[in-house]
Amino acid sequence: MTLVVEGGQVVTPEGVVAADVVVAGEQVAGLVAPGQAGVLAGPGATRLDARGMLVLPGGVDVHTHLDMPLGELRSADDFASGTEAALVGGTTTVVDFCVQPRGQSPLAGLAEWRELAEGRAVCDYGFHAILSDPSEAALADLPALVAEGVSSVKVFTAYPGRLYADDGRILRTMQEAAALGMVCMVHAENGLAIDVLVAQALARGELGPAAHGTTRPSVLEGEATQRAICLAEVARCPLYVVHLSAAEALAAVRRARRRGQPVFAETCPQYLFLDEGLLGGPGGERFVCSPPLRSTRHQEALWRGLARGDLQTVATDHCPFCLAERAPWVGVDFSKIPNGLPGIEHRLDLLHQGVVEGRLTLERMVELAASTPARLFGLWPKKGSLLPGADADLVVYDPRSRQELSASRHHMAVDYSAYEGMVVTGVVRSVVQRGEVVVRDGRFVGRPGRGRYLPRPAGVLGWPTGTLADEGVEADKEA
Ligand code: URP
Ligand code: ZN
Ligand code: ZN
Ligand code: ZN
Repeated sequence: MTLVVEGGQVVTPEGVVAADVVVAGEQVAGLVAPGQAGVLAGPGATRLDARGMLVLPGGVDVHTHLDMPLGELRSADDFASGTEAALVGGTTTVVDFCVQPRGQSPLAGLAEWRELAEGRAVCDYGFHAILSDPSEAALADLPALVAEGVSSVKVFTAYPGRLYADDGRILRTMQEAAALGMVCMVHAENGLAIDVLVAQALARGELGPAAHGTTRPSVLEGEATQRAICLAEVARCPLYVVHLSAAEALAAVRRARRRGQPVFAETCPQYLFLDEGLLGGPGGERFVCSPPLRSTRHQEALWRGLARGDLQTVATDHCPFCLAERAPWVGVDFSKIPNGLPGIEHRLDLLHQGVVEGRLTLERMVELAASTPARLFGLWPKKGSLLPGADADLVVYDPRSRQELSASRHHMAVDYSAYEGMVVTGVVRSVVQRGEVVVRDGRFVGRPGRGRYLPRPAGVLGWPTGTLADEGVEADKEA
């Protein structure tokens, strides 16, 4: 036994139990009764004191954009700073997005992103592939992508001229993905309609960030989500809706799931905690992301969706741009503000705040932050679990101490916090990854570049045999 975590309350989706965790090398050996680990430890073992603490499986954030190019800019965190911030925040695995360069193969994007991550990342990482141009030639390379461990692709109904794919291309992507056992992820907002609304707002002289919200109404997210669900049904492809923010989209996902369709959805902390009103306030440009922040009505629906199982994961969509990169467009053109919020460091703290506020149970928090994302994307039980043989990735979490979130203290390379001044209850104390203590008392103490690439198998999610139960009408009544 090389490491023991003693005296904590171990949280898994199955429950909260007082237990010691015993680690041998890079893997979990097992859970033992409190007090037993010390006996097994032996003289050379590292001992972590978890008395009064929770012990959680390391978090799995399946939506990050590290070192992402956007025009002339790059998102503020590269794989070094971004994954260090992830670890400090209790996330031990990220699945980032490699981007297919338009007109080229998605394999070129994967090669580029593996280069960006290799030797820099300090937590373990995998990739999904963004298809910026899902041509037949690009789709012909999906088997090679799967062979390299990328078993999910993302397509966009948003961003015409840049990432947008029309319904035909999305259907073809889903057909090929389904045949290969891949998951299709969709950014669901009606980009063509949004572009009209944006042009009209600018013509009216609405130049500030508030118009970013008003030109991306929730109903256009609901519509695009429903459309993606229909296309996935026709292609018989498992669907994962990313960064779901709207009650209308949630209702569509809930309906599809009740019919038995393999549809899964994630939301992000920003859609749970930050109000659309921030876009119209001072520094509104800090809050520009797509889909946009929404009203309390949507936030309440999302919390309910998380608690009752209509939403399956919480990821961050971490894609920060610094203030100086946003400032030039303030009062000039909101549509040019680079999109995306920082958040990779605070996903667990914010979900735990949901527990503190009585919105989620601890078990559900672990499901949303670790076990379900790992399951959906082919990483479970190696990641997202504390079963014997799993990678020894775990978090010692202090559920009672309070902290104030602030750019002055965070580890992310971005110069502002979307949660500046917010006080939450709960603090990450230590983090173990593959049996090594990498965070101690909130400080990163691991070896630079220690993260490993995680190839992810296809064929994890399937399509049910036969036709789907036609319960749509019933579900509509209830929704
Ligand atoms: O505003 C966002 N979410 N930027 C990141 C890219 C994306 O669409 O996920
Ligand atoms: Zn997106
Ligand atoms: Zn994203
Ligand atoms: Zn920057």
